[in-house]
Amino acid sequence: MTSPSACWHLSYLHRIEYEVVDCPGVLDPHNDALLSVGNREDTGRFVIVDENVYRLRGAGIRNYFAHHRVDARIVAIPGGEQNKSVQTYLSLLTELDSYPIERRAEPIIVIGGGVLTDLAGFVAATYRRGVPHIKVPTTLMAYVDAAVGIKNGVNLNGHKNRLGSFEAPQKVLLDRTFLETLPRRHILNGVCEIVKLAVVADLPLLEMLEADGAGCIASKFQDERGARLLDHSIERMLGELEPNLLEENLSRTMDFGHTFVYGLETAAGCDVLHGEAVLLDVLLSATLAARRGMLSDADLKRILDLVATLGLVVNPVHLDPAELWDSVQERMLHRDGAQRIPLPDGLGKCVFVNDVTMEELQAACKELSMVKQS
Ligand SMILES: NC(=O)c1ccc[n+]([C@@H]2O[C@H](COP(=O)([O-])OP(=O)(O)OC[C@H]3O[C@@H](n4cnc5c(N)ncnc54)[C@H](O)[C@@H]3O)[C@@H](O)[C@H]2O)c1
Repeated sequence: MTSPSACWHLSYLHRIEYEVVDCPGVLDPHNDALLSVGNREDTGRFVIVDENVYRLRGAGIRNYFAHHRVDARIVAIPGGEQNKSVQTYLSLLTELDSYPIERRAEPIIVIGGGVLTDLAGFVAATYRRGVPHIKVPTTLMAYVDAAVGIKNGVNLNGHKNRLGSFEAPQKVLLDRTFLETLPRRHILNGVCEIVKLAVVADLPLLEMLEADGAGCIASKFQDERGARLLDHSIERMLGELEPNLLEENLSRTMDFGHTFVYGLETAAGCDVLHGEAVLLDVLLSATLAARRGMLSDADLKRILDLVATLGLVVNPVHLDPAELWDSVQERMLHRDGAQRIPLPDGLGKCVFVNDVTMEELQAACKELSMVKQS
């Protein structure tokens, strides 16, 4: 007689909770936010810092931990997409493994741009199957996007974020003063993500960008208008992310601008930043939406005028429909077999479409190239 095969069903709910906090003067020794999670006394911290930030703020970082009598192992790592690699990830893990941290009480701290926060988040997610971490974004891209969510990862085989995980930080500490030293190109790079958010999800943000965007860029977001614009942008971004943190729903508004020109920044010999690629994708998507009658000609012109007013660079990358189509195919794998392409349906609103054709893409490319030249 055969015994009936056994079957056990397991179910476990895991709550995700973390804070994104305005934290001016995060490196002021009297500010204890960086040490607000975990052990406070006789303790250590593994601190991953962007190399440029370390050059500019290294003394302040060392002084902070010395003041609090924390034994900090500070590791400076260069930013840049080429360093978002498995090699850098493994070298960080090896370094971390030579500096024992208590598994729960000594969170990893990362201070840097999106490349570093993505790398460090993945290190934290995988070391001992997960240790806590705190993120301090120092680029606009990380401040409004990369550091405030829970996704991390590294590139593999020339593909963006092919390895990665979802791992919530314990805290994200926002200090706008880091942006003071950020080169203008990287300020504009972050602005591209804010434009993306505005066009597809937030008309009032678009109006703020039209009114104050150029001034905010000039002041590197150091004045009150800059603070308001960033707070608004982050609030909207978090509002989009929170209900779908683990991306159970693959139709994501925040995938706008991440379909046709996805991952261009990892292409060999291509000097394009992530936000610059997103902007090109946003403009192409908006052109497609206009051709479908979802955006009026006036709406499309409004987007193009905003891009010009903000001084955003539309990178003169050849809009090759065949390559853009390949990107759509790759994204379809990521989106489980369907296009799920987010397009603006009127400014500040989003719909998902599944029927974009190669011919339509070709026509939109041609139209956008003509607009860019005129
Ligand atoms: N995880 C996510 O949800 C998410 C979202 C958006 C973007 N990203 C990722 O973010 C990455 C891009 O991030 P990034 O644009 O911040 O690039 P980055 O981290 O490479 O930083 C850009 C440059 O700025 C320098 N830098 C950083 N802070 C500085 C400062 N305060 N002053 C002067 N120089 C400074 C860095 O050294 C680097 O040269 C991409 O890999 C992208 O995929 C991730």
